[in-house]
This record gives sequence, structure tokens and C-alpha cells, in this order.
Amino acid sequence: MTILVTGGAGFIGSHTVVELQNAGYDVVVMDNLVNASPKSLKRVEAITGKKVPFYETDIRDREGLEEIFSKEKIDGVIHFAGLKAVGESVEKPWEYYDNNITGTLTLVDVMRKHGCKNIIFSSSATVYGDPAFVPITEECPKGTCTNPYGWTKSMLEQVLSDIQKADPEWNVVLLRYFNPIGAHKSGTIGENPNGIPNNLMPYITQVAVGKLQQLSVFGDDYDTHDGTGVRDYIHVVDLAIGHVKALKKLEKGSGLNIYNLGTGNGYSVLDIVKNFEEATGKKIPYVIKGRRAGDIATCYASAAKAEKELGWKAQYGIKEMCEDSWRWQSQNPNGYDD
Ligand code: NAD
Ligand code: UFG
Repeated sequence: MTILVTGGAGFIGSHTVVELQNAGYDVVVMDNLVNASPKSLKRVEAITGKKVPFYETDIRDREGLEEIFSKEKIDGVIHFAGLKAVGESVEKPWEYYDNNITGTLTLVDVMRKHGCKNIIFSSSATVYGDPAFVPITEECPKGTCTNPYGWTKSMLEQVLSDIQKADPEWNVVLLRYFNPIGAHKSGTIGENPNGIPNNLMPYITQVAVGKLQQLSVFGDDYDTHDGTGVRDYIHVVDLAIGHVKALKKLEKGSGLNIYNLGTGNGYSVLDIVKNFEEATGKKIPYVIKGRRAGDIATCYASAAKAEKELGWKAQYGIKEMCEDSWRWQSQNPNGYDD
């Protein structure tokens, strides 16, 4: 079975390619490299000992997609390609809607023309907005997103659901990720943010490696156990394995399915700092700042549905997430530029 992985050179994509190849799938990657290095795929090849056929193509490029679907016999698509920086999406809404929505519409159109109607889509816990309840189950109503990035995920969930409803030959799995961190045990692939990281863990690892001076903690007056924001951090390898499990479901011809991929545990910003310090022996100086616009107090998953229906459960705890994030950062202080 051959799986096209869009955005496969990126953080979650590269880890998923490893798990797919380890599970015996044939994989083809396409990525326009707007937020990735082709070196990630060379390192994937070193990990798995298998070649990764790669097309440098944009998901909005219909001819480029046609070429892939004509040359390769694609049975299903895992669709990671997209822009994901929350703040940038507020500055450049058109670019985000064009890239993520036009791109996905083009991809899906080319897929159906080639008779490929199996897709797993990278969605996000962001679609719940400020969640109506925690732990968040898949039945929790979708909420108001606070930025264009979040809206692209919410809208694309609707688009893919409607397409599946109109044509039941489609099998669609919407995976709502919580907060992926960590890296492959080898320390050779990992998250490689451009410029100053927006997300907590890459910021912490860059403080630990000496590239940044101190962490700013965005708000200590939330209604949480220590006042700082609580999130459900999940090891990227667990997340990647979740895709393999979702693929098994999809192969059975399962229609439309939605799953949270989280651990079910909530950790505050200060919990993460403490766990990181304990796991790595590195001190993380921090300063308390005001709340970041658009942030919510608490977000963590109920992971029960994925466990029941996919037989998937996160295996790694917070200690390994911190150790593995640090191994990647310390071995590659400049990411793939080293
Ligand atoms: P990433 O930026 O590392 O990976 C995305 C990849 O898509 C990159 O390699 C980028 O070059 C590629 N890409 C972007 N636009 C493209 C286009 N038009 N054509 C072809 N390739 C394109 O990000 P990631 O963290 O690996 O995220 C993967 C997916 O998961 C994204 O859709 C993201 O929105 C979603 N997601 C991520 C998180 C997170 O916190 N990392 C959380 C929820 C959902
Ligand atoms: N935080 C800080 N300082 C920082 C960065 C983050 O205190 O320098 C705090 C945030 O305020 C928040 C927590 O750390 O309380 C996590 O923040 P992240 O930016 O790492 O993650 P978010 O939960 O804000 O969002 C991430 C992705 C979204 C995705 C969401 C899914 O950025 O794209 O997880 O849950 F939708």
C-alpha cells in the first residue's frame, strides 16, 4: 500500500514517515519546503534504511500533483502540508486561507480524479476554541477560533466532512492533535522552527542550549493549579504512531471518523519547566509576563475514543518528551543547518 505524505519533510510528517516505513508501508513524500529542510528526509532514510521518494511540489500546484498521482499508485494520503504559525496567520490571513484551503481543495480534487478517496487530515485541538468542558471529548462542540490558522482547520474539517457525506466512497479521518513535542530517539530529526519559536518546548530548548536568554511565561493568573496555562503535551512519535493506527481504520472503509490525539494529561507551563529541568539537568530561567492574546487557560483531551476504536494510546510520558526534545536540540543547536 502506497501512502502520499504531504508536508512529509516537516516536524510531524518526518516522524510519521519513519513509523509508516517501519510498519511496512510504501511512502511518497511531497513538500514545497516552505517550512522544512530536505535533510530531514535524508535522516529519515538513515533511520529506516529505506528510500523516501520525494517531490518538491506545492499542494496548490495542480500539475505537480497530477504528475505525482500519474507516476505513483497512491492508495491514500496523509495530509500534513499547511502553514501553522498562529501569529503570522493574523498578519497574513489571505496567505493562510490560500495555502491551507485552496491547497487542500486542489489536493482533494486531484485525488478524486485519480480514484484515491482515502485521506487523513491534520486537524487541531484549536477547533474546540475555548473548550466547553475538559477533558475534551470529540463530542465537545467546536468553538470560535481566535485566529485565521485555527479557522482553516475548522473549515477544512467541514469541507472534508461534506465531501465524504456527498460521496460515501470517501474515507476521511480527522485527527485533532493536542500539543506535539519531543523528537525521535535518535536525536536526528525534530522540530526546526524558523526564527524565534512561538511554541513553548522549542523556546525552552533554545534557552537551555544558550540561544535565548530566558523564557517568558505568558500569564500566571489563569484559573489553573499554578496560574499558568495548561496543555496536553504529546510525544511526536506517539502522534506518528496514531497515524498508522488511523490508516488501519481507514483501510477497512470506515467513512468519516474524528479522533483526538492527546495523552489525557494536562501540564502547566511551570510544570513543563520543572519537568524539563529534572529530565535534563538544565536550568531554565523565566520571567512572568502578561497573557498572550488568544490563549486559553486549559486544554486537554479525553483520549478514550482513539483507544477504544483505534487501539491507540500514548506511550511516552513527560520525562521522555523533555529528554527527547533536548537530545534533538543539543545535538542540532541550529536544527538542520548544522
Ligand atoms: P511543519 O511546518 O513542520 O510541517 C508542515 C509542512 O508542510 C512543512 O514541511 C511545509 O514545508 C509544508 N507545506 C506548507 N505549505 C505547503 C504547501 N502549500 N505545499 C506543500 N507543502 C507545504 O508543521 P508540523 O508541526 O509538522 O505540522 C503538520 C500539520 O499538523 C500541519 O497541518 C499543522 O497545522 C498541523 N498541526 C500541528 C500542530 C503543532 O503544534 N505542531 C498542532 C495541531 C495541528
Ligand atoms: N507559552 C509561554 N511562553 C512561550 C510560549 C508559550 O508561556 O514562550 C505558554 C502559552 O501561553 C500556553 C502554553 O505555553 O499556555 C503552550 O503554548 P504553545 O504556543 O506551545 O501551544 P498552544 O497551546 O498555544 O498551541 C499549539 C499550536 C497550535 C495548535 C495547538 C493545539 O501552536 O497550532 O497547540 O492544541 F492548534
